[in-house]
Amino acid sequence: MPENNQFWDFYWEVSLRDIEDLGKREAILAVSQLIRRLAEQPDQPVRLLELGCGEGQIIGPLVQAHAQVRSIDTSLGVDYKGSSLDVGRRNYPGLRFIEGDFTDPQLLARLGQFEIVLLVNALHEVFSAAYSEVLGEVDVLAAWERVEQALAGAVSCLAPAGYLTLFDGLETAGDLQQKLRVRFHTRLARDNFYIFAREYRPFRVTYQEVGDPYTIELSWRDFTRYITKSIFLGKPLWQTERLESYQYFDEAEFRAAFTRQGLLIRELRTLTVDYEKWRSLVEIETPGCDFPAEHILILAQKSTQVASD
Ligand SMILES: C[S@@+](CC[C@H](N)C(=O)[O-])C[C@H]1O[C@@H](n2cnc3c(N)ncnc32)[C@H](O)[C@@H]1O
Repeated sequence: MPENNQFWDFYWEVSLRDIEDLGKREAILAVSQLIRRLAEQPDQPVRLLELGCGEGQIIGPLVQAHAQVRSIDTSLGVDYKGSSLDVGRRNYPGLRFIEGDFTDPQLLARLGQFEIVLLVNALHEVFSAAYSEVLGEVDVLAAWERVEQALAGAVSCLAPAGYLTLFDGLETAGDLQQKLRVRFHTRLARDNFYIFAREYRPFRVTYQEVGDPYTIELSWRDFTRYITKSIFLGKPLWQTERLESYQYFDEAEFRAAFTRQGLLIRELRTLTVDYEKWRSLVEIETPGCDFPAEHILILAQKSTQVASD
């Protein structure tokens, strides 16, 4: 198989033609490049582990595409949702899947070591699982602790100089309580916002109508949560999406968390894939404010240096 970039651009263009989630596409393209880079080194095995793999929509196409790479057939997907793994096993019969909780250190200790560990849209679920009935919101301190532990667990599965790839939602840096005035373009968009405000579970959402029923004021924190969930409103997926906050770390917090785990960030990108859809729903009237960056993609390498103190 020719190993040039043009070939791979065409390969992924064709094989990801039907994928609707553009964020997933970015994660797959970045990891495909990383696999090819690693596989250039003689005798280098490239084994993938995806934690929170769901139906295998990330790890499956990657292993299929790079089937000739040494040891890639020992790659593994982990998820605690058996029904998703059943779909993965059907779609990717050669791939290994294990049912279990990836925040369980005992499970991780049994998995072995991998050159690439993937956390794609998975850690925000760990964060959101720290919802407290008493607080009526996510217990943020407990949630950050869980995220940190899950990250440490993922790093424990990396082979020396292995790569952790994370793709997930991104919190905006700065004052999340800053007020923002926005105007809905349609009645449907406005009514869907009301559903969001009532049903979104991780944080209480507050807003005020200003002047006319299509214009509201709300905090930047609540706006980013609304806009990044807006594509699910009115769809069956909303019933699960309403339980999860995509946002848990801003860019600096991701960098700090990765550094604490002895990871060297080799590539970091922030991206927004739903900008046009958002613009069709709502206009931001507050001067100087624009839609948020939606996702973060990080490729980080496990440091091989031993700490001196
Ligand atoms: C949004 S899905 C992403 C699936 C896949 N990474 C993808 O992008 O197609 C998140 C997945 O993580 C799984 N998950 C969340 N927390 C988990 C945990 N603690 N242990 C195992 N799986 C978990 C969920 O069951 C779900 O399948």
